[in-house]
Amino acid sequence: MALLVFYYVNLSEVSEIWMSTIQILYNATITRGASNITFNTTSPLWSTTAIASVSDPSALSSQLTSVSVTEPCKPATPYHVAYPCSYRYIFNEPERCRKENPFLVLMVPVAPGNREARDVVRSTWGTEKLVMDKVVSLFFLLGDVSPEARNEQQQNVSQESEEYHDIVQSDFLDTYTNLTIKTMVIMEWLASHCRNASYAMKIDSDMFLNVNTLMNKLFQAPRQTYITGLVASSGMVLRDPHSKWYLPKDIFPEDYYPPYALGLGYVFSLDMPEKFIEGAKHVKAVYIEDVYLGLCMRYLGMPFTNSPGDLFHVVPVPYDRCRYSKLIATTTRNIQEQINSWKDLMQPGPPC
Ligand SMILES: *[C@@H]1O[C@H](CO)[C@@H](O)[C@H](O)[C@H]1NC(C)=O
Ligand SMILES: *[C@@H]1O[C@H](CO)[C@@H](O)[C@H](O)[C@H]1NC(C)=O
Ligand SMILES: *[C@@H]1O[C@H](CO)[C@@H](O)[C@H](O)[C@H]1NC(C)=O
Ligand SMILES: *[C@@H]1O[C@H](CO)[C@@H](O)[C@H](O)[C@H]1NC(C)=O
Ligand SMILES: *[C@@H]1O[C@H](CO)[C@@H](O)[C@H](O)[C@H]1NC(C)=O
Repeated sequence: MALLVFYYVNLSEVSEIWMSTIQILYNATITRGASNITFNTTSPLWSTTAIASVSDPSALSSQLTSVSVTEPCKPATPYHVAYPCSYRYIFNEPERCRKENPFLVLMVPVAPGNREARDVVRSTWGTEKLVMDKVVSLFFLLGDVSPEARNEQQQNVSQESEEYHDIVQSDFLDTYTNLTIKTMVIMEWLASHCRNASYAMKIDSDMFLNVNTLMNKLFQAPRQTYITGLVASSGMVLRDPHSKWYLPKDIFPEDYYPPYALGLGYVFSLDMPEKFIEGAKHVKAVYIEDVYLGLCMRYLGMPFTNSPGDLFHVVPVPYDRCRYSKLIATTTRNIQEQINSWKDLMQPGPPC
């Protein structure tokens, strides 16, 4: 049974990036102030219910495309990205999954120059490599550095890769508008290098993640055709050309997006990546990565699974040891908060 939950949100506490997402969810015209956002959540069970999200297939026709073989790697418009396309790996870790046999794979998209974010993850939730006898493997997904930064920055990435063996770097240019490519390369990489893992999570580097809660929930989750997170429904398509997530009507004529899991962190069973890749052959790739997975899911006729409202948070949850011990993921206000929360939660003693 799907349940509508209204969050009363003080938008001044929301970071710039998530502000845009909230605007998609709510309304393009809101910038600062308070507003209500609607998410579909289930209550109280994890994973057993799903909203049927497949709507009128005729609405799909405008996004459908047979991908042209003659022009495979050129985006059709500035709002599309070059996908599908055969990207190559600059750095790869092709053997790690086979050797480690993980239950859960954490895939963290991050820009090549953002060493600090990777180090924070490596020293906080990225340290959890064995949870209840199950292996958790962590990888960072990077695009290519810009031509101007190639020498020094790429040399740094190379050294870092050698030191940690957790970097997968692909040769599309790493920019904000290419994030959809990054997500799809994550899916390709999982499908070909980690097919035997049970679950993967795509999670942003600036999130707080409670790996223990996640694993506990996954032990009870379906093993197949499963994707969950903070599932937004009726996200409004932004028509203000100045908005960061603008899509003109001729690119996407519908007023609302189909359900999609917010890009901050979503979890899926390992049969899903090849399904997304299949869907992507038929749905033109727009530059908004989480929305794009939603469009692929609609094409595939598959629903997202909602999660209880207290597990994934787009608005930073103020640190509270008890509350943090029960949630899966939340945005954080800054890096220091991300580090401090994790350190405190790791202290011995009952959190509640
Ligand atoms: C969203 O913004 C439009 C103007 O762009 C306005 O007409 C509409 O009433 C708003 N909708 C909501 C739900 O606030
Ligand atoms: C948000 O929801 C609350 C409770 O439903 C309502 O009182 C309030 O007016 C809403 N605020 C906005 C900005 O829509
Ligand atoms: C997955 O497991 C099967 C059987 O155990 C093995 O043959 C295959 O090589 C594994 N694939 C990967 C990608 O690890
Ligand atoms: C490369 O690494 C060095 C040493 O850690 C650092 O000082 C420098 O700023 C880095 N350069 C780039 C472009 O990231
Ligand atoms: C990535 O983004 C940049 C600029 O946003 C663009 O020039 C480039 O062609 C895009 N695609 C690839 C595959 O690098």
